[in-house]
Amino acid sequence: MSEITEKKRIFSGVQPSGKLTLGNYLGAIRNFETLQDAYECLYCVVDLHAITVRQNPAELRRQTLEVLAQYLACGLDPQKSTLFIQSHVPAHAELAWILNCYTMFGELSRMTQFKDKSAKHADNVNAGLFDYPVLMASDILLYQTDLVPVGSDQLQHIELTRNVAQRFNGVYSDTFTMPEPYIAKTGARIMSLQDPMRKMSKSDENANSFILLMDKPEDIMRKFKRAITDSEGTIRRGEGKEGISNLIAIYGLATGRTAEEVEAEFAGQGYAAFKPAVGEAVVELLRPIREKTEDLLKNKDYLEQVYTEGAQRASYMARKTLDKVYRKVGFIKR
Ligand code: TRP
Repeated sequence: MSEITEKKRIFSGVQPSGKLTLGNYLGAIRNFETLQDAYECLYCVVDLHAITVRQNPAELRRQTLEVLAQYLACGLDPQKSTLFIQSHVPAHAELAWILNCYTMFGELSRMTQFKDKSAKHADNVNAGLFDYPVLMASDILLYQTDLVPVGSDQLQHIELTRNVAQRFNGVYSDTFTMPEPYIAKTGARIMSLQDPMRKMSKSDENANSFILLMDKPEDIMRKFKRAITDSEGTIRRGEGKEGISNLIAIYGLATGRTAEEVEAEFAGQGYAAFKPAVGEAVVELLRPIREKTEDLLKNKDYLEQVYTEGAQRASYMARKTLDKVYRKVGFIKR
């Protein structure tokens, strides 16, 4: 290990159960390309987490590859970053079992995501759903992760991860690096096109409220034309103008302009001119990503090579931690 040049390690988990939105892209994924030079990055498609709610097997397979392809299309370089699929590295499940024995029932009962999801899937409140945060803690702790980029909805899980790590370290001496949430400085918060007080989310019932990276140009244009605005009619940010403020932010990010520049550019113009302009800017922003993703999805051999090599690298790192953990808890060396 070269102590001087050692970069901090980032672990990021992404669910294969949903599609990536413009919000995900502008808020986080867009920065991955630069992040991978400053940090040692691991990007994991968390299929084990996905089955805590019912999945269609064929869909799950397709979505897993699609997420991987989208990440590559957004500029992740498999030579620099480790891209892999969670179920390909058994150490995640192995460490999860051990950490289960160092996580309290009461702690897991307090997780708001568990409460939300069990209300939403009342017919399938399975043990995996309850245990979800322990598997997530394992993902993070296996790689001696320093930083975890997450949205605010996942902060409670990071806090739990830290508590479990601290408990284990306390009993057995230092074993796990204490991870911290990574809040991107450059990330933007993109709001729903139908309710600009809420964050853009793919789980929104109204498909007009979000833009997917894989949306066709005509769908993107339609969604922007229908975006909720206000009756005032001027292109400026302000109180009661959350819809237009959001469109200004999106247009600015898509074209590399500041909000002030966007306001100046559209001074004196109305929404009928502005909305399609935002749509077109987003179409052009996403076009190369969608096309690259489609190409990659046709090249299954390449994707297989990426995730196979990724799993090999990840397994090697994970094994080191797991061996240490097994030794500390008193298992016989195999
Ligand atoms: N729970 C995260 C989410 O729903 C996904 C996830 C699983 C994750 N394991 C992780 C995120 C480890 C960061 C680190 O978004």
